[in-house]
Amino acid sequence: MGQAKSAMSIGVSLAAVAIGFAAMVNYAAAQSAQPEAGAAVIAQGKTLVDSGGCAGCHTAAGAPAFSGNVLGTWNAPSLLNDPHNGLGTWTADDIAAYLRTGHNRYADASGPMAAIITGSTSKLSAADADAIGAYLKSLPAPAAGATAAALPATDPAMAAGQHIYTDECAACHTEAGTGLANLFPSLVASPVVAAAQPVTLVHVLLHGAQSVGTAQATAAAMPAFGGQMSDQQIADVLTYIRNSWGNAAPAVTAAQVTAAR
Ligand code: HEC
Ligand code: HEC
Repeated sequence: MGQAKSAMSIGVSLAAVAIGFAAMVNYAAAQSAQPEAGAAVIAQGKTLVDSGGCAGCHTAAGAPAFSGNVLGTWNAPSLLNDPHNGLGTWTADDIAAYLRTGHNRYADASGPMAAIITGSTSKLSAADADAIGAYLKSLPAPAAGATAAALPATDPAMAAGQHIYTDECAACHTEAGTGLANLFPSLVASPVVAAAQPVTLVHVLLHGAQSVGTAQATAAAMPAFGGQMSDQQIADVLTYIRNSWGNAAPAVTAAQVTAAR
């Protein structure tokens, strides 16, 4: 509850920022003809991100800015340029599309970010959303950590999880995990799927989710599987998606699912 409230107040202040910065749109358009446009646009994006409270949700206490956070039952993913656990595969255009519509070819917002999108970032001008995208892409990639090895396909949880995935998930997210642009999120190279703490995964599998509808994109629903699948089955299918298609992340245990019910 407290979280929803703070999300709303952040959303409101961001909306005010969007209006306040409407004047900067013309400035950005004028600047884009100049050689230094890149730097000016990035600076504009930084101003919007700083005043929008983005770091507050996307940074854990004591961690580097934008390196990701856990908000109750949702991961606020890393916004850094890491291809496996951040926005490394996203272009500035992908970021702008997500902020304005709640959807893009990789992701569909349905958690706390949905309120931020509805209340404020969907109202950003194209130039402001582009500026935020340019700024986030200008952030340095995090230092490469030790890369975990994916569990082998022969692991019992992986084998069980693959069966469940083919039967219950592939129709929407596709056998290759790539989903469908603007409708079913990609499970490949997704910071949500590879997050150290799989809180969004467990929550969404148990309870389902509804992605945000905006003027530009319709909402799609993720069914709840909590009623029809055991904790072990949910753990296995999540372990499978966390260790397939180039993903590598610790297995999810049945105990983690039980604790979240
Ligand atoms: C209230 C907390 C909160 C605030 C404020 C917030 N975010 Fe988010 N953000 C989240 C959460 C949680 C997610 C995960 C998806 C969801 O909630 O649907 C997310 C997802 C995202 C994603 C998609 C990441 C992915 O891999 O799917 C981007 C990009 C993003 N936020 C950028 C921003 C920007 C830019 C701002 C500031 C304008 C911002 N966020 C403000 C909580 C927040
Ligand atoms: C009827 C289509 C459909 C089926 C079947 C389905 N999903 Fe989804 N799924 C969605 C949609 C739509 C979303 C995005 C909306 C949302 O997050 O609220 C989503 C979101 C997700 C997410 C969150 C991704 C993110 O980046 O936030 C995960 C993980 C996921 N699904 C895994 C699964 C697994 C595992 C199965 C099978 C047990 C499955 N889904 C079955 C449609 C489906």
